[in-house]
Amino acid sequence: MKHIKLLAAIALALCISFSAVAKPKIRIIATGGTIAGVSSTSASSAYTAGQVGIQTLIDAVPQMLYLADISGEQLVNIGSQDMNDEVWLKLAKRVNQLLNEEGYDGVVITHGTDTMEETAYFLNLTVHSEKPVILAGSMRPSNAISADGPANLYNAVAAAVSPACKGQGVLCCMNNQLLDAKSVIKSHTIDCDTFEGGHYGVIGYVYNGEAHILQKVTTKHTVSSVFSVEKLDRLPKVGIVYGYANCSPLPMQAFVDAQYDGIVLAGVGDGNFYKDVFDVAVKAQNSGIQIVRSSRCPSGPTCLNSEVDDDKYHFVASLDLNPQKARILLMLALTKTHDWQEIQEFYKEY
Ligand code: DGL
Repeated sequence: MKHIKLLAAIALALCISFSAVAKPKIRIIATGGTIAGVSSTSASSAYTAGQVGIQTLIDAVPQMLYLADISGEQLVNIGSQDMNDEVWLKLAKRVNQLLNEEGYDGVVITHGTDTMEETAYFLNLTVHSEKPVILAGSMRPSNAISADGPANLYNAVAAAVSPACKGQGVLCCMNNQLLDAKSVIKSHTIDCDTFEGGHYGVIGYVYNGEAHILQKVTTKHTVSSVFSVEKLDRLPKVGIVYGYANCSPLPMQAFVDAQYDGIVLAGVGDGNFYKDVFDVAVKAQNSGIQIVRSSRCPSGPTCLNSEVDDDKYHFVASLDLNPQKARILLMLALTKTHDWQEIQEFYKEY
């Protein structure tokens, strides 16, 4: 009898060790957000983001352990409306370290949804690995009725272990969908299906613990990006000005007076701006502040030399990037060049 028990124990140990050896190593980096939020009552929409730690998030989804060898770390615990350059630089450097130096097979980042699209795009340009980097969050706090965080986190790990997600750049995994960093946008203030795929649509989905990629990302990212943050401890200052009828030039003038390095305009229509704002923009460009025209429209490109003669004024058109992502590309572009034509090429490639 003793021999049988010993053999059973050895067999179990071998199964566990084999299964542990066979599973991909996935690191979950927590930054806060609603996925880590807690509401006063589970039926309440009143809650505070960034309250629950990474181990609690992992412990709430034990099914993940069948998919991967999971470990976690807490970078920050903030609402993503407070996401900032310092966290972005730390996060990009840490992801590169995990994937290129510490042998992880993929990284999942839990993040608030408010600025998830921005962090995803920033990492898309600064992470230098083909391994999957997947952002996940939630629209309902961790203790809400039908909280969506656990399923989103499980699906994000399923995507992170999926060979299909390699080489697709940084992806967001929300509501069973996989969305690429360049086009993903938060489109609704409260709905769980808030994330949309913009110009390129949803590139895939996760179901029953498996990721399916339906279309390939064609623009430059990750290993084909020329941008690096490894030697940076700060980013260029770039602001965004919102355009509207009879728009005041004061916000743009304030960025000029504060000696910003670049200004993105969320213009009306095809990136147009009110005449008083236009005059300030021309002076700003001539003083060495790069102007990028983008649009407040939720979809469609901001076209080069269409209603505005960009070549004449040395403005840059954001093409397929919305204002918040045009700002990110301009910040990184300004770490490489201040030449408006070279910057415009980056908008054609990334
Ligand atoms: N404070 C918002 C954030 O952290 C909550 C939105 C969310 O995470 O879903 O982005």
